[in-house]
Amino acid sequence: MKHFLDIHKTDKPDLRRIIDSAHAMKSGRNGRPKATPDDAQPLAGHMVALIFEKPSTRTRVSFDVGVRQMGGQSMVLSGKDMQLGHGETIADTARVLSRYVDLIMIRTFDEAVLEEMAEYASVPVINGLTDRSHPCQIMADVMTFEEHRGPIAGKKVVWTGDGNNVCSSFLHAAGQFGFDLTFTGPVQLDPEMEFVGWARNAGSTITIERDPMKAVEGADLVVADTWVSMHDAQSARERRHNMLRPFQVNKRLMDAAKPDALFMHCLPAHREEEVTSEVMDGPNSVIWDEAENRLHAQKAIMRWCLGV
Ligand code: CP
Ligand code: NVA
Repeated sequence: MKHFLDIHKTDKPDLRRIIDSAHAMKSGRNGRPKATPDDAQPLAGHMVALIFEKPSTRTRVSFDVGVRQMGGQSMVLSGKDMQLGHGETIADTARVLSRYVDLIMIRTFDEAVLEEMAEYASVPVINGLTDRSHPCQIMADVMTFEEHRGPIAGKKVVWTGDGNNVCSSFLHAAGQFGFDLTFTGPVQLDPEMEFVGWARNAGSTITIERDPMKAVEGADLVVADTWVSMHDAQSARERRHNMLRPFQVNKRLMDAAKPDALFMHCLPAHREEEVTSEVMDGPNSVIWDEAENRLHAQKAIMRWCLGV
């Protein structure tokens, strides 16, 4: 069974194959209208369930559109409207859904829910974000970087702010795609040391630098994410903002990186908090390509999972 649960749990050649396939499918569409099917219809006869236990705009729409472009059918399910949210076990849900659908994508809180779904489903399961990782996003980010700047191997990526779920997937990608990552943020919000260690063992240079101006020196890519994630307590908002304010990505910080450094943000962004509008809408920002590439990268991930 080919589940797509995390970047560090997927073989390197498979990750590369997925990125190549995403590029090929994107160029194959050649800007045609979004509702027009792809020439190849690899998901014809396939039914996909998209389960959301947290809000989503990009993941929800890009998966749904991607399935349709490839000739499949999809249904978007809200966790709270399912029996899953009312006491039915994850294992039983997985067994039942496997009798109806060919592929399950789930966005959830605890990583254990994703793992249990994968253990008991007899169809592939895709991680659409957990409290601990967001692998589909980073596959799109790698695709986007390479589209603009060529191979990401050997490049310097700087993560600013909270060492959260998206940062964890960047660490996994650093190890698998061979780039270096510098984290700059407050000590209280350091990335998971387990993943820092994993990326270092995989051969990447992972640096923690408290001074954001020093951190971005020589950076090829600067990345920001929200200061308060969906799994964070709203009561921690003010405390987190106070800690994170010095790590805002603004023009002064971007000017300290390489002149052609790209800026990425998985979105949704909070303008003038983790990033200024000047940077988001500026010449180095590739955030809209990044959002579009969710569609292409996830189409490639679904094909890989289904072997079609
Ligand atoms: N970046 C991302 O996953 O966005 P959504 O929360 O809108 O899906
Ligand atoms: N870190 C953010 C990413 C949103 C796509 C969150 O988990 O809310």
